[in-house]
Amino acid sequence: MGTRVTAPSVRACKVARGSTPLVMVTAYDAPTARMVDDAGVDLLLVGDSVAMVVLGHDDTLSVTVEEMAHHTAAVARTSPRAMVVTDLPWLSYHLSTEDTVRNAAQLIRAGAAAVKLEGGLRRVPMVEALVDAEIPVMGHLGLTPQSVHALGGFKVQAKEAAAAHALVEDAVALAEAGVFGIVLEAVPDTVARMVTEAVDVPTIGIGAGIHCDGQVLVLHDVLGMQDRLLPKFVRAYGSLKADGVTGLSAFAADVRSGAFPGPAETYHLSADVEAELESEIEGLYGGGILSA
Ligand code: KIV
Repeated sequence: MGTRVTAPSVRACKVARGSTPLVMVTAYDAPTARMVDDAGVDLLLVGDSVAMVVLGHDDTLSVTVEEMAHHTAAVARTSPRAMVVTDLPWLSYHLSTEDTVRNAAQLIRAGAAAVKLEGGLRRVPMVEALVDAEIPVMGHLGLTPQSVHALGGFKVQAKEAAAAHALVEDAVALAEAGVFGIVLEAVPDTVARMVTEAVDVPTIGIGAGIHCDGQVLVLHDVLGMQDRLLPKFVRAYGSLKADGVTGLSAFAADVRSGAFPGPAETYHLSADVEAELESEIEGLYGGGILSA
C-alpha cells in the first residue's frame, strides 16, 4: 500500500501546478471501496448519490446522516490508501454551525477523513466552524443536487456571465473559509477554468471540462452498473449491468436444466459412509416406508 492520501496532500496538488490531475470516484460499501482503491484512485467519495444509485430514490434529499455514517463505516473498514470524503446530507448543515459540526463528527467517527458540503457564500460560517473543529471540508458548487427543487431540475449552471462571476465569488469565499478542495459540477469549461484560476485549492470537476485540477464520476456510471440515462459528461468504462444479467441468466438456465450444481460444486461422503447411507436410503424408499 502506498502513502495515504490526506487533506494536505490533496491541497498540495494545487501548489504543484502542472501536477497529475486528481482522481475521485464514489464508493458506498466495502467491495466497491476495494475496487476503487485497488485502481489507485486518490479520493473515495461516499457521495449522497448513494440515495439514487444504491437506495433507489429519485434524488439525494432522502438520505440521512445515519445512513451516510453506515455507508462510510463500510468503506472505511477496508482501510483504503485513498482519502475517504463523505457528503454531509441535505439539512445536516443548514440549521446552525453547532448542528453542522455535530453531524460532521458523526461521519468522521464512522471513518471519513473529511466531509463535503454544497453551496457557496451562505455556507461560509459552516465551513469555518468545521475547520475550527479540525474537520477538513470540501466544497461543491455549480449544479448542487441537494438544491434540485430550487434550481428547477438537474441543469447545467453558470451559463450567463453574471452567474459565472457569482460562482467565482462563491469559490473564492469557500477557499478563504478553509476548504481543501472544491467539486465543480455541470458548468461550462470556461467557467470552470475561471474558478480554477481564481482559487488556491484544487478544483475537481464533474461535467466541468478539462481545466479542473481533477475529475470525479459516480462509480455506477463509470462501470455501467445500471440502465439509467447517463448525463452527457459521463464516459462509461464498463458494462457491469449487462455482464451481470448475462451471468445471472446463465446461472438460472443451469439450475433449471440441472447443470448446476455439478460434482465440483458438491460435497461428497467417503465411499464407505456413502455405501452405508445409500443402503439406508434404499431401505426407506425401496421398502415403501416413506411412500405409505
Ligand atoms: O454524491 C455524489 O456522488 C457527488 C458527486 C456527483 C460529486 O457529490
